[in-house]
Amino acid sequence: MRTHYCTELSKEHIGQQVTVAGWTNNHRDHGGVIFIDLRDKSGLLQVVCDPTENSEVHQVATSVRDEFVLIVKGTIRARGQGLENPKLATGAIELVAQEIIIENKSETTPFVIGDSTVHEDLRLKYRYLDLRTEKSFNIFKLRSKVNVALRNNLDKQGFLDVETPIITKPTPEGARDYLVPSRVHPGEFYALPQSPQLFKQLLMVSGFDRYFQVARCFRDEDLRSDRQPEFTQVDLEMSFCNQEDVIGVVENMLIDAFKAADIDVKPPFNRMKYSVAMENYGSDKPDMRYDLAMVEVADIFAKSSNEVFASIASKPHINRVKALRVPGADKVFTRKTLKELEDFVRKFGAGGLGYFQVREEEGGLKGPLVKFFDEKDLKELSTRCGLEDGDIVFFGAGPKQTVWDYMGRLRIEVANRMNLIDENKYEFLWVVDFPMFEVDEGKVKAIHHPFTMPKDLDKENIEEVESIAYDIVLNGYELGGGSIRIHKQDIQQEVFKLLGINEEEQKEKFGFLLDALKFGAPPHGGFALGLDRLIMLMTKSKSIRDVIAFPKTQKAQCLMTAAPGDADPEQLKELGLRIRATSGQA
Ligand code: AMO
Repeated sequence: MRTHYCTELSKEHIGQQVTVAGWTNNHRDHGGVIFIDLRDKSGLLQVVCDPTENSEVHQVATSVRDEFVLIVKGTIRARGQGLENPKLATGAIELVAQEIIIENKSETTPFVIGDSTVHEDLRLKYRYLDLRTEKSFNIFKLRSKVNVALRNNLDKQGFLDVETPIITKPTPEGARDYLVPSRVHPGEFYALPQSPQLFKQLLMVSGFDRYFQVARCFRDEDLRSDRQPEFTQVDLEMSFCNQEDVIGVVENMLIDAFKAADIDVKPPFNRMKYSVAMENYGSDKPDMRYDLAMVEVADIFAKSSNEVFASIASKPHINRVKALRVPGADKVFTRKTLKELEDFVRKFGAGGLGYFQVREEEGGLKGPLVKFFDEKDLKELSTRCGLEDGDIVFFGAGPKQTVWDYMGRLRIEVANRMNLIDENKYEFLWVVDFPMFEVDEGKVKAIHHPFTMPKDLDKENIEEVESIAYDIVLNGYELGGGSIRIHKQDIQQEVFKLLGINEEEQKEKFGFLLDALKFGAPPHGGFALGLDRLIMLMTKSKSIRDVIAFPKTQKAQCLMTAAPGDADPEQLKELGLRIRATSGQA
């Protein structure tokens, strides 16, 4: 219907007759002459309807309202002197309308398109209107380009695009499953895949050698700004490979993905052991756009006259005392800030927040903790932390997991408050040598997933068993992760056993995998990249919802379709299901 998209038109087209099509972004009546800003996916073009030039067209234009769908034929002319709009791609020209067809009308929209102050719930209810903005369009244009670049890259690297089932057996990745009842087998259920993990491993047993898939994954877990219940992974698996090979493939793929977004990235990316990330940054996904590394000072605190500190510091096998030096903070943080920071860490389990202020003019270290140390120990603390005039150094003491967590969060909080974060930087980091297991309330769990190859299962303390697992972190977000897999049945069974999965359960849940491992499974490994997170970071979006066309809310609802919703009683009957009344429900 059109000859051009709006922003394809420029001064070069002056005098030409063209047809454009789109929506009325806004319309203005300037003393008889009506101006319509027409919007299509490329941007805006000003349409002029002058009654003295064409009264018929002007008549049609008087009935045009915002968001009406128009097809406009006319001639391009230069805007009058002083009437150019340099902010607009087409700001030097306008279209003098010779014909306007109103293809469709629009009721007044529930919000002004593009008004970012509108509550997100309302925008999500009318997501198709929310997506009408140039900003949204650009996000999805980029997403599409990056997606194509990733696919092309993996194709180039010899990977085969294979689709794996969506209604399947549970694939554990640490979240709850979405279950799908079976009509043909009443009382039985499929699960939606948390990832294609097991199928991609089976494709390696088939000898496919290199697999990839842009795969939809489903996880019923607590949502955050970087998590959705259904999301997309760029998932890959390869045979006869080691960790270096997988990392090489992923870095190669990321170069092309970022190139598609006009961002230059230069592998090899830095690497850090998991244990170093936790000890120095209190997180397995440290943001490396700024340093602010923590320092262990338990040995010095053990000598302090404060009994609580000394007692914590004397048990280094379970506790940590961490110092976080913030250069120049004493010039920026007020007493109020310090109180806010203390309240902040308390939310994450800290008993309080001790600190020193370095004030050379006042004779050195100040702050509530100073009195507990002698001169020599204060000097040692200063040297260890590299303290300089104007710094503040914060201390966290207690059980190691709690201290890592709240000091890691404090690090991010102070980086924000000190404006240390360069929003234009992309700092990648491979976190490697993850532990295989964690013990949570007495229960042994796999940190990645149970199919990850352990380095050495013979450790006395199960938490010291390392695995060949690696995550890639970008600007403090876990962008992707993977591992070398167990390809031997006996090791897989041993890991299941350590995870408390008995033989019967192993057979019932993973019998097909254990069988496959008996029939010549090659050594293999792989990786999955969170595509939504990647686009969120590339577009500097605040939430993952902004880069998903039809996202769910934090409560896992789709406000537009009102999903989840009730099921038809007939359907339930067919499925052999009955809804039991729970409190508050009929
Ligand atoms: P993992 O569970 O680490 O690994 O997931 C890989 C990547 O997927 C993204 N991701 C998510 N994105 C949005 N919302 C979510 N709820 C969500 N959960 C995960 C993250 C994450 O890094 N099968 C393994 C991969 C492998 O071992 O090959 C897996 O799924 O960016």
